[in-house]
Amino acid sequence: MTKKILVTGGAGYIGSHTCIALHEAGYEVVVYDNLSNSSREAINRVFSIIGQPISFIEGDIRDAETLRQVFAAHAFFGVIHFAGLKAVGESVAKPLLYYNNNVSGSITLLEVMAEYDVKNLVFSSSATVYGDPETLPIDETSPRSCTNPYGQSKLTVEHILEDLAVSDASWNLIPLRYFNPVGAHPSGQIGEDPNDIPNNLMPYISQVAVGKLEKLSIFGNDYPTVDGTGVRDFIHVTDLAQGHVAALNYLQQHASSKNGSDTTGSVGFLPINLGTGKGTSVLDLVAAFTKVSKQPIPYQFAARRAGDIASCYASADKAKELLGWEAKLSITEMCQDTWRWQSQNPNGYDSH
Ligand code: NAD
Ligand code: UD1
Repeated sequence: MTKKILVTGGAGYIGSHTCIALHEAGYEVVVYDNLSNSSREAINRVFSIIGQPISFIEGDIRDAETLRQVFAAHAFFGVIHFAGLKAVGESVAKPLLYYNNNVSGSITLLEVMAEYDVKNLVFSSSATVYGDPETLPIDETSPRSCTNPYGQSKLTVEHILEDLAVSDASWNLIPLRYFNPVGAHPSGQIGEDPNDIPNNLMPYISQVAVGKLEKLSIFGNDYPTVDGTGVRDFIHVTDLAQGHVAALNYLQQHASSKNGSDTTGSVGFLPINLGTGKGTSVLDLVAAFTKVSKQPIPYQFAARRAGDIASCYASADKAKELLGWEAKLSITEMCQDTWRWQSQNPNGYDSH
């Protein structure tokens, strides 16, 4: 039986890549997105990559009535919940917007899932829930703390999921804690399309390489790292997408659900890191991108960015052990695919 999956936020950067991976793995996808940070063009390109349309509903996760209509119309095996706002700086300026969208929205979604007895969920969490880690690599038992409203909203949803699992063993809840997603689909048709000047490193580098931005500011060269610049665990978005397929496959094998799982077990609350386990410095990433794109990437050193940490990389052992998943793609492939997307679509989805 083909399993149907509701993908909230499926028009966004990670969601669009995951829709393709789900389709390729034999899942049927229904996308639910309010397009607040994405475009219909992304969905059209997903159609073009997979060679057929998928169901798309324009809707908000805070709108219980519309969600009810969707759950009434489809027998879902589970939900992958990407929908959320993700800009750290904006969350500091607009905390109510972030708590409303990310926390209240998740509560509304969970309430409607409960009403329709759909209790399998994969949630987009983040390595940001680990704050400034005490030890590296970071495993799932590391203490959690957050310093900004975006991070707090992710951590709060994790706490809600934990409480839910305690309250009722029929919930099967997997928060995936992403490290630093980068890259694009190898077709060059879909990728990350920041609205404004990018906050994150990879899109900033690629916009410098394509000539949209003049030069990169590297925030800090006095960290206790290999070359003084920040170290992160960059993970290719298509590897990340496969991690979601692996999580759903795990739910099929271990969770009970009226809509088609194979067993009567319970997963409860099961957080899993999705990272490569390898740290790469800012300067290393700039060098790799320069080599791949053959473009100059001018940079200057600037002050540390408030809230940044020196180093962050995952222990990816739990994902390998439980899900049989591990990241396969290298930093070079992450740069190649980002560059193909950026050079073919210098203005993102507005380039068509
Ligand atoms: P994105 O902004 O590209 O995608 C999020 C999607 O959710 C967008 O299409 C947006 O329109 C939609 N959305 C937002 N609020 C909504 C609402 N109320 N109702 C319906 N749709 C709504 O972001 P992304 O990079 O694809 O991230 C996906 C998820 O992963 C987010 O929850 C994000 O916080 C989380 N995450 C992202 C990163 C990253 O670096 N990209 C890292 C860790 C976690
Ligand atoms: C940031 C967010 C984090 C979020 C993650 C993924 C902050 C403080 N943290 O993490 O909550 O989960 O994005 O969306 O915003 N850098 C530069 N110049 C730039 C941009 C970045 O030097 O123009 C450096 C940063 O200082 C850091 C590294 O590049 O050392 C990676 O930065 P970024 O891509 O923003 O990711 P994170 O800081 O890990």
